[in-house]
Amino acid sequence: MEKKIIESRQGEVLVKQSNVKNSKKLFLESYGCQMNFSDSEIVASILNEEGYNTTNELDEADLILLNTCSIREKAEQTIRKRLSQFNTLKKIKPKLTVGVLGCMAERLKTKFLEEEHLVDLVVGPDAYRDLPNLLKDMEEDGRNAINVILSKEETYADINPVRLGGNGVTAFVSITRGCDNMCTFCVVPFTRGRERSRDPYSIIKECRELVENNYKEITLLGQNIDSYLWYGGGPKKDFAKATELQKATAINFAQLLDMVATECPDIRIRFSTSNPQDMHEDVLHMMAKHKNICKYIHLPVQSGNTNVLKRMNRQHTREEYLCLIDKIRQIVPECAISHDMIVGFCGETEEEHKDTLSLMEYAKYDFGYMFAYSERPGTPAHKKMADDVPLEIKKRRLTEIINLQQKLSLDRMKSYLNKIHEVLIEGTSKKNKEEWYGRISQNAVVVFPKTKTTKVGDFVNVKVEDCTSATLIGKIA
Ligand code: SAH
Ligand code: F3S
Repeated sequence: MEKKIIESRQGEVLVKQSNVKNSKKLFLESYGCQMNFSDSEIVASILNEEGYNTTNELDEADLILLNTCSIREKAEQTIRKRLSQFNTLKKIKPKLTVGVLGCMAERLKTKFLEEEHLVDLVVGPDAYRDLPNLLKDMEEDGRNAINVILSKEETYADINPVRLGGNGVTAFVSITRGCDNMCTFCVVPFTRGRERSRDPYSIIKECRELVENNYKEITLLGQNIDSYLWYGGGPKKDFAKATELQKATAINFAQLLDMVATECPDIRIRFSTSNPQDMHEDVLHMMAKHKNICKYIHLPVQSGNTNVLKRMNRQHTREEYLCLIDKIRQIVPECAISHDMIVGFCGETEEEHKDTLSLMEYAKYDFGYMFAYSERPGTPAHKKMADDVPLEIKKRRLTEIINLQQKLSLDRMKSYLNKIHEVLIEGTSKKNKEEWYGRISQNAVVVFPKTKTTKVGDFVNVKVEDCTSATLIGKIA
């Protein structure tokens, strides 16, 4: 499962020796969402120009950077623990610089320097271009450095990411940054700023380069991807102020998908994340039109009850969401759907929770990423609502939805049995060296015995013969 891949990547150190002339070493560890992993590749690219090669040996690092996540309290605790482990290292190596990037840097700003004394550098998600200057300033005057200014325009469009730590087959391409949705529980609008879209031609250029370098799958990334709208730059909120020409030539997400799928016909295209309120039928028609757009939609709903959705400031009702599910099933019948769900949000009653369970039954999700509500300081929910569902109840409700999802996942996996599916080989199975690991269009993971003629990056037809709720098991057909 995609989330599992990301979960197993938490804390992954991204490495690629990319410039023989570089003498300094960067240890870059990433946490959180796919966007953070994609951002780390941009950071590595910027610092590569400044004489840094990446390393996975902490001992040889001149610079340690943690790209952090603030989405739930637990994510922040993990980072704090990790930072404390660098303490001894700093004592041995006083010249070592430790920096914090990403959402936690943005949320805590100067507080970080006050609270975590071993942190020298704090840089928010829109300020990575300033990293070389900040490092130079630190070198010159020996003081700490910080830049957490959020931008309305920055999309890093012209920066060619150093593809780190991946399998050389699948890559992320960021197409929007920030989020304007202001879901009341969510810290992202505060840590990643206003929503803005990237120049489509720079996106196509990056995709073409990936194809030239033998990549076989591209995942377009955005916090709210269906909201993509290019009209010449600037935040989406200012679209009303655009000129008539800009409005007439604007490109939306469905059009962008069409462009990418047409330009790169021999590779797979995925995208994430779709917000139900912004997912329109034209995107579904584009998925149906192009064979190379994977039949999989990650469609977080957060709750199955309209009143909870209202308290969360999600801009749709339960019924509207169910209509969207029907539309997906009608226009892209073979589509897999996954969700994000939060239990125990402020004031959630037992009845409201039951609505979540019944919505899940209706949607027959393939996968699900499920969380207990974690109050985040500064969010509208924190300011205006009480986090009043006891932890024990949150835990019980979480177990209930996880158990239900496992049953739904198994049902969906069974529907793939005894059929032939096209699989992109991504690597060797972690459990068995003799087996390949890959995914079908619907994003389900498949393992199958290796053959002499197959290699990583090949598309192969696999007959699925068995399954668990998380994995399909098959043989090359
Ligand atoms: N649009 C984003 C969503 C980011 S957050 C994307 O691209 O994935 C990912 C998920 O974390 C959300 O969909 C939500 O289910 C969960 N989440 C966000 N804030 C949370 C909080 N305060 N407590 C628990 N879960 C949360
Ligand atoms: Fe967060 Fe809602 Fe945006 S979950 S990332 S504010 S769509």
